[in-house]
Amino acid sequence: MSPILTIEDLSAGYGGRAILDGVNLQVHPGEIMTIIGHNGAGKSTLLRAVFNLVPSRSGRISLEQRDVWALPSDRLLLAGIAYIPQHRSVFPRLTIEENLQMGGYLVRDKAVLADCIARVLDLFPILKARAGQYAGLMSGGEQRMLEIARTLLQDPKLIMLDEPSIGLAPKMVDAVFDNVRLLRAQGKAILMVEQNVKKALSISDRAGVMELGSLRIQDQASRLIDDERVVRLYLGKR
Ligand SMILES: Nc1ncnc2c1ncn2[C@@H]1O[C@H](COP(=O)(O)OP(=O)(O)OP(=O)(O)O)[C@@H](O)[C@H]1O
Ligand SMILES: [Mg+2]
Repeated sequence: MSPILTIEDLSAGYGGRAILDGVNLQVHPGEIMTIIGHNGAGKSTLLRAVFNLVPSRSGRISLEQRDVWALPSDRLLLAGIAYIPQHRSVFPRLTIEENLQMGGYLVRDKAVLADCIARVLDLFPILKARAGQYAGLMSGGEQRMLEIARTLLQDPKLIMLDEPSIGLAPKMVDAVFDNVRLLRAQGKAILMVEQNVKKALSISDRAGVMELGSLRIQDQASRLIDDERVVRLYLGKR
């Protein structure tokens, strides 16, 4: 199967400071690829660089073999890339339903949009039960689910998630990861950054370890869980 996302020799940084150093990776349809690594390793910078949000970059990025390097973020969204940043991005003073409508702003036909929102809400019972409530009143985990649900309205090919489990109680982490699997089941390509290494690897197909801006190891997630270096550096003390 040909990849949805191909990153070749990607380097990036802020001002004069180089962060990413020659990253190569691919993500395929129906695949969860997870990047782990210590704080400051450059994981968020990788996702931001793909979404053209980093000031200096070099390399090549293609979406389904199409070169998307020069596209600004809004065009990348149109081309089929969704990005959920590390920090929460729901509109707190809008209701859940209104947040979903914002996510579906590209859908011109109101009846079609209402239909899409109804279908997405069927997938997320927690959101459906509280569709009229302000998003800002929901728990962190529920807000994450809303972010995930909202991306579905853009019908993206690739979804980039930056630490979806950050700050969540274990039960909510499981619920959010169930939603990530649901995205995979819909054939989306998923590029996820996570520090909850054990759980993230257990739902991932492939994974990579980022150290000082380089992807040092890339392998099947099931193999990385047992990799001696990963166990020592990321799983040992848990
Ligand atoms: N806007 C910015 N301007 C300058 N330096 C930045 C900026 N954003 C990040 N950095 C630096 O780039 C490096 C990588 O940051 P990045 O956020 O990509 O790391 P990370 O792996 O996502 O870390 P964490 O696990 O803490 O989220 C860090 O040294 C950080 O201080
Ligand atoms: Mg980060």
